[in-house]
Amino acid sequence: MIQFTEEQLEEMLVDGQFLAEGGNGRVSLVKHGSGFAALKICRQMDVLAFHQECVFLSLLEDSEAAPKLLGTSVGPTPAYLMEYCGRRNLEAILNSNRYDPLKKLKLVLNVGYKLQKIHNAGIIHNDMKSDNIVIADDGELEDPNSVRIIDYGLATYAFQKRGFILPSDQFLWMAPEVKAGRPSTSKSDVYSFGMILRHLWSKISVIFPGLLSISREATRELQLLRPTLNSVLRQLEDIIYKYEASHRIQ
Ligand SMILES: Nc1ncnc2c1ncn2[C@@H]1O[C@H](COP(=O)(O)OP(=O)(O)O)[C@@H](O)[C@H]1O
Ligand SMILES: [Mg+2]
Repeated sequence: MIQFTEEQLEEMLVDGQFLAEGGNGRVSLVKHGSGFAALKICRQMDVLAFHQECVFLSLLEDSEAAPKLLGTSVGPTPAYLMEYCGRRNLEAILNSNRYDPLKKLKLVLNVGYKLQKIHNAGIIHNDMKSDNIVIADDGELEDPNSVRIIDYGLATYAFQKRGFILPSDQFLWMAPEVKAGRPSTSKSDVYSFGMILRHLWSKISVIFPGLLSISREATRELQLLRPTLNSVLRQLEDIIYKYEASHRIQ
C-alpha cells in the first residue's frame, strides 16, 4: 500500500488513460511499478465516505472478489489506486452476441460466488449492477478469476442502514429496503442479483426458461420471502447441470 501526494496524483494522470466515469468517480488506467493500476478520483468530497470505501476494499483484500487496494491519496483530492480489472463490464457481455448463452450464465454464476465472498466478510454491496462487475481483458468468461465486483461507494456492513432515502420508482436494481433507508442485509444484494438474472433471461430466455422464476423469487418486495444467495446459486448450478447433461445425451 502506498500513499501519494497531490503532485504524484497529477503525475500519474499526465500519462494516464481515461477508462470510465460512474456516478461518483472518474477512473483512469495509470502506470504502477512495472505494470498498470486503476486510479479512481472520487467526486464526493465526504472524506468519511471516501475512507469507508477504502476500508471495504482492504477488508476484501484476500477475497479475490474485489480489486486489491494499492494506494490512497493524502492530498486534498480523494483518490485511490487499485488493481486494474479489465475494460469489459457485465452489461457489455450480456448485450453482446459474441458469447454463447451457457458462457453468460456461467459468468453470472461466478459473479454470485464472488458476491458470496463479499457477504462472508460481513459486507453488503448495495449497488450490484452490471456496470459494477468487470471482466479481465484476456480472461475466459467461465474462469472465476476473470471476475471482480467493483465500486464499494454504497456498501455497508450487514444490518447497517445506508442513511439515505431514494425514490422507489428509480434505481430499479436496488432493493426496496435499501431505498427506504432500512438496514441492508445479504437479501438486499439477492434482490439486485435477481435483477441481473432477469436481464440475463431477457437475452437468453429460450434456452433457460427456469431462470425467470428464480429471478422473480429473488426480487420479491419482502426480503423475508426472498431465497438466500446460496439457494439461488444452487438453483443456477442445477440449470447448468441439466442443460449440460441433456446436451451430452444428444
Ligand atoms: N479496478 C478497476 N478496473 C477497471 N475498471 C474499473 C475499475 N474500477 C472502476 N472501473 C471503471 O470505472 C467505472 C466507474 O468506477 P466505479 O467505482 O463504479 O465508480 P462510481 O462510484 O462512480 O460508479 C466502472 O464502471 C468501471 O468501468
Ligand atoms: Mg459504479
